[in-house]
Amino acid sequence: MAAVNAVFVDVDTGIDDALALIFLLASDIDVVGIASTGGNISVDQVCANNLGLLELCGVPDIPVSKGADDPLHGQWGESSKFHGPKGLGYADLPATDRRLTRYDATTAWVEAARARPGELIGLVTGPLTNLALALRAEPALPTLLRRLVIMGGTFGEQPVSEWNIRVDPEAATEVFAAWAGHQELPVVCGLQLTRRVAMTPEILARLATAAGPSPLITMIKDAVRFYFESHESRGLGYVAFMHDPLAAAVALDPQLVSARAATVDVDLTGARGRTVADYSGSREPNAQIAVDVDPAAFFDLFIERVAAFARKKFASR
Ligand code: BDR
Ligand code: CA
Repeated sequence: MAAVNAVFVDVDTGIDDALALIFLLASDIDVVGIASTGGNISVDQVCANNLGLLELCGVPDIPVSKGADDPLHGQWGESSKFHGPKGLGYADLPATDRRLTRYDATTAWVEAARARPGELIGLVTGPLTNLALALRAEPALPTLLRRLVIMGGTFGEQPVSEWNIRVDPEAATEVFAAWAGHQELPVVCGLQLTRRVAMTPEILARLATAAGPSPLITMIKDAVRFYFESHESRGLGYVAFMHDPLAAAVALDPQLVSARAATVDVDLTGARGRTVADYSGSREPNAQIAVDVDPAAFFDLFIERVAAFARKKFASR
C-alpha cells in the first residue's frame, strides 16, 4: 500500500542537497525515490553520492534513478565551485553495492506520483530538468502531487539569478507554466530567503555535541567545512547557506515559512535565469514565494532530528 507520508526528492548532490537528504531520512516520512540530476556536478557523480549517502545512513534500499545530464537546451556550464570536485567537499562516502534503478528519473517521478494520487510530496533541490521532462510525460503531475517545494530562483535585489534556475531556465519555465492556475501552487524557496539560513561553526558544533561522534557526523563536518570555505572565498563569510535543507524542511512542514502567491517569470534571453515575481494578482499565479522564515526555529529542528537519527543509527555499531 502506498505510504501516506511520502516524499520524492530530486537532487544534484551537492553539500546542501546531502544535508537535505539526511534531514529527510531522519524524519518521520517515507522517502519513496531519489532522482539525480547533473548541475552542481556530473549526473554520474550525483548518483554515486546519493547511493553512498544511503549506505552511510544505513537505511533500507530507496530507489535512486539517474536523470538528466544536460539541461533542456544546450549543456550545463561549469560545475558549481561551492561543492568541490566530487560534490561533497572534504567528505568521503563508504563503498556500496547499491545500484541505480533500471528506469530513469522521468519514469521515477511519474510512477511515484501515479502510485499515490494526491498524496506524494515532491521536492526539487537541483535544476528542474527532470521534473520538466516528467511533466511532458505526465501533464497531470500538478494534480497528482499533494504539493511541490522547489529550492530555486531569487526574488530580492541581488543577485538577479540563482543557480538551479539559471542552469536550466527553460525547464523552470515549463514547470511554472504547468502549475499556473492550480490550487496547490509550488512553494518556492529562493536565494533571498535561504541565504538567511546560515550554518555557522557554532551551530555545527551544537549538532556534533547533540549527536555524539559517528561516521555520519564526521561526514557532515567534513562537507560543511568545505562549504564554509567556499562561501568565505566568495566574500559571503565563514558560513554555509542551508538552501536545500530549508526546502526539505518546508516540504514536510510548509508552516515553517510564510508565503505569497505570485506569477513567476523566468528570463530566457537577456539575464538568462533571472526570476521575477509579480504579486499584483492581475495574472494567474503559478507559485507561492516563501518570503519569511525563522532561521533559529529551522536550526533547532534540524539539529534535533539529525542528532537523534545519528544517535539511533550509530549507537550499537
Ligand atoms: C542552489 O545551488 C546549489 O549549488 C545548491 O545545492 C542549491 O540547491 C543554491 O543556489
Ligand atoms: Ca542543490
